[in-house]
Amino acid sequence: MQETFSLVDHPLVQHKLTLMRDKNCPTAHFRQLIREIALLLAYEVTRDLPLAQTEVQTPLETMQAPILAGKKLCFISVLRAGNGLLEGMLDLIPSARVGHIGLYRDPDTLQAVEYYYKVPEDISERQAIVVDPMLATANSLSAAITRLKQDRPVRIKVVCLLAAPEGVAAFGEAHPDVPVFTAALDRELNDHGYILPGLGDAGDRIYGTR
Ligand code: PRP
Ligand code: URA
Repeated sequence: MQETFSLVDHPLVQHKLTLMRDKNCPTAHFRQLIREIALLLAYEVTRDLPLAQTEVQTPLETMQAPILAGKKLCFISVLRAGNGLLEGMLDLIPSARVGHIGLYRDPDTLQAVEYYYKVPEDISERQAIVVDPMLATANSLSAAITRLKQDRPVRIKVVCLLAAPEGVAAFGEAHPDVPVFTAALDRELNDHGYILPGLGDAGDRIYGTR
C-alpha cells in the first residue's frame, strides 16, 4: 500500500458515506451528503498547511497570532464528479482558487480522455488539492496529476471518496510523491472497472443522469 495513503475514518464521514452507498438515496440527498463529507475531508487534507504570524489588535491589546502563510491554495476538480466534492471544500475554504480538468473514462479501454484543462495562471506558486470522488483503476487521477505536474504546483494532494486497492497501487506507482486522502478503501474492481461494493457511478448519482 502507498505510504502516503490516508484513510479518513471520522465517524461522521463513515456514517454519511454509508447513506450515500444506499442505491435508494435520492439525488438531492446524495449531493448534499457528498458536500458535507467534502467539508470534513477538506479539514483533514489541510491539517498541515503552513502558518505565519501576524499582528492583530484585539479589543484589549495587540498580539502576534497565526495566519495561513503564502498564496491561497487551489482546488482542482476532475470533471465532472469532482464538482460534487468541490462544493463542500469551498464551503470550508471559500477563498481558495479553483481549476478544472475535464476527463472521461473510455468505457471500453478504461483509459482517461482529456477534454478540458484550466488552472490558475500562477499555479506554480500555489498548493493544489485535486478532487475526484472515485479512484478506481486510477487512470483518470493519474492522467490528471501527470497533466497538472507540467504546471509545477508547489505541492499536490489528492482527495477522493472511495478507492479500490488496484487503483491505490497503480496511483502509488505513477505518483509516489502525491498523498491520497480517502473516506474508504473498498474491496476490488469488477470487470467494468467499477468499485465493489462502491456506490455506482458517482457522476450519474450526483447529477441524476441515469
Ligand atoms: C469517474 C470518476 C473518476 C473516474 C474513476 O468519472 O469521477 O473520474 O470515473 O475511474 P478510474 O479511476 O478508473 O479512471 P467518469 O469517467 O465516469 O466521468 P464523469 O465524472 O464525467 O461521470
Ligand atoms: N467511476 C465511478 O463513478 N464509479 C466507479 O465505481 C468507478 C469509476
